[in-house]
Amino acid sequence: MSRITIRDIDAMKSNNEKIVMLTAYDYGASRIADSLNIPILLVGDSLGNVILGYQNTVPVKLEDIVYHTRAVVRGSDKAMIVADMPFMTYKTDPSEGLRNAARCIQDGGAHAVKLEGGEEITPTVKRIVDAGIPVMGHVGLTPQSVNAIGGYRVQGKVKSSALKLIRDAESLQESGVFALVMELIPSAVAGIITKRLSIPTIGIGAGPYCDGQVQVWHDLLGLSEEFTPKHARKFANLAEVIREAINRYVSEVKDGTFPNDDESFTVDETLVDELEKSLD
Ligand code: KIV
Repeated sequence: MSRITIRDIDAMKSNNEKIVMLTAYDYGASRIADSLNIPILLVGDSLGNVILGYQNTVPVKLEDIVYHTRAVVRGSDKAMIVADMPFMTYKTDPSEGLRNAARCIQDGGAHAVKLEGGEEITPTVKRIVDAGIPVMGHVGLTPQSVNAIGGYRVQGKVKSSALKLIRDAESLQESGVFALVMELIPSAVAGIITKRLSIPTIGIGAGPYCDGQVQVWHDLLGLSEEFTPKHARKFANLAEVIREAINRYVSEVKDGTFPNDDESFTVDETLVDELEKSLD
């Protein structure tokens, strides 16, 4: 199977095939996701929360994304890898946005970048797309603006904000994004946007009427124990599985049942005798 491209993603919408996207931040996760043919892996700036332990995504640097993108790319032969451009790496001016997007592609090895924002970022989106870099949009709750929004709340709940979301989505499509993430918006509004756009929509906390869904690796697998967003579903409780495994390791080291005196490490008895004699 060759590497997924934006044309494949587009075809999935046309064929009514749901698009599954997942975050990944390292080589091992990427290998597992790739073995399951997950079409899009996002090196999300959520790595700020789940990998680096920050309160939010604001402190994440371009270097963090480039570093983790490289590892994810090394682990994958098939998925399209999308690098999430961090806070303030594309909002000052379009040229800086383009330079930083190029770093994600050239130094990170990503195949596309994702930018948070609506109409206000369309000049930057156009600039990046015109330079030959595929861009994924992200509207609704945009976590990089958490301080301005005043928390992680559902967006587009009243007519004026829902209309703004629809306008944002349409102008992003016009500016050339190949897909649009919609985070924390009412499912009915997500459904309207999905119907109006020809590009695929990918929801997270945006209900079932999107063309695809994205989840954060740690939320999906039950690895984020302190906080799991309401819109995440735990499909496993790996934190508990890991704790049980580490506990078994600890007790087997302590009671001497690990490691075994494995044959591959044994040597001839005569060598032991000789060593002991020469050390006397
Ligand atoms: O950073 C991230 O993981 C994201 C997804 C939640 C879409 O932006």
